[in-house]
Formats: sequence, structure tokens, C-alpha cells
Amino acid sequence: MDATRILAQGVFVFLVITYVGAEREPRTILVGDSQGWQAGTNYTQWAIQNSPFHINDTLVFKYPGNSTTLAQSVYLLPNQWSYITCEFRGAKLLGNATEGDGEGFKVELNQLTPYYFASAEGNFYDCIAGLSKFIAVPSTSSGSS
Ligand SMILES: *[C@@H]1O[C@H](CO)[C@@H](O)[C@H](O)[C@H]1NC(C)=O
Ligand SMILES: *[C@@H]1O[C@H](CO)[C@@H](O)[C@H](O)[C@H]1NC(C)=O
Ligand SMILES: *[C@@H]1O[C@H](CO)[C@@H](O)[C@H](O)[C@H]1NC(C)=O
Ligand SMILES: *[C@@H]1O[C@H](CO)[C@@H](O)[C@H](O)[C@H]1NC(C)=O
Repeated sequence: MDATRILAQGVFVFLVITYVGAEREPRTILVGDSQGWQAGTNYTQWAIQNSPFHINDTLVFKYPGNSTTLAQSVYLLPNQWSYITCEFRGAKLLGNATEGDGEGFKVELNQLTPYYFASAEGNFYDCIAGLSKFIAVPSTSSGSS
């Protein structure tokens, strides 16, 4: 009887793990963790650590609460070339240098296309230096988390 119960529990645990793996909930992710979205910051490691992103995950861009020099805009660049060269023609402003104050603002990754994020302040100085920019590539929610 004990063996039956253990076996039953084992099957139950297996089913729960399978269910969680297949039906993962979209995440809400604070960009840059506690330091938020700020000027002169390298987000490459953060982006790697938080990958893979999944469809319908939400990114929260939150600016540093008590610093006007570090707060900056967020643009969505149209493609990888514009991301690399910091060509902002055709870029879409997602949030200006004050819209991320307080609780920040949200961007839902609801398209299966790469999202190229960068800031434009200082004549694109950070972008050209490889700072305050990152790519998020959402994948479908099936498969591993
Ligand atoms: C993403 O959200 C949209 C709109 O809420 C929904 O229709 C769609 O099924 C979701 N996609 C996934 C993969 O969860
Ligand atoms: C305010 O600035 C101080 C020092 O620069 C920093 O340690 C602190 O985390 C900041 N507070 C907020 C809410 O950003
Ligand atoms: C930023 O956007 C907000 C809301 O749209 C607007 O009220 C504010 O004037 C803008 N600030 C700048 C510096 O453009
Ligand atoms: C940013 O961080 C990544 C990963 O640690 C590193 O490879 C890259 O050289 C850094 N870029 C800059 C501009 O510091």
C-alpha cells in the first residue's frame, strides 16, 4: 500500500512538473534588476542572464529614483543594423526621460521578433559605446523555460 502511495505521488509530481514546463506564465521583468534603466550601464550580462525571453513577457523600464542625470529615454530600433550603428531614424520612442519615473513603464513582448532597445541621450554616446542597450528575443512558451 505504501508503495502504491509513493508511486501515485511520483506520478503526481511528474505531472505537475510537465504542466509547469508546458504552460509557463509570462514573466514581468524589471530591466537591470534593482539598478533599473540608467545611463552608462552595460546591460549585456543582464540580458544574457534573463534570456530566454518568452512571448507575452513584460519588461518594466524603471528610471533611477533620485537622479536626473542617469534617467534616460528608451527607444525601439527597427533592426539589428540600426542597433549596431545607433541609427535612430525610424526608431520608436517607448518612453522619454521622465516616463520611467516612479513605478516605470511596461513593454509587452507580444511579437516573435527581436526587440532592439537603446537610449538616445548625449548624441547617442552610450549607444555607440555599447551601453544602455540590449536585445530581447522572445521565443514561444513551449519547450524548456
Ligand atoms: C499572448 O497574449 C495574447 C493576447 O493577450 C494571447 O492572445 C496569446 O495567446 C498569448 N500568447 C501566448 C503564447 O501565450
Ligand atoms: C538614491 O541615491 C543614492 C546614492 O546615490 C542611492 O544609494 C540610492 O539607492 C538612491 N535611491 C533610489 C530610490 O534610487
Ligand atoms: C514625457 O512624456 C510625458 C507623457 O507623455 C509628457 O507629459 C512629458 O512632457 C514628456 N517629457 C519630455 C521631457 O518630453
Ligand atoms: C558589456 O558586458 C559584456 C558581458 O560582460 C562584455 O562582453 C562587453 O564587452 C561589455 N561592453 C562594454 C561596452 O563594456
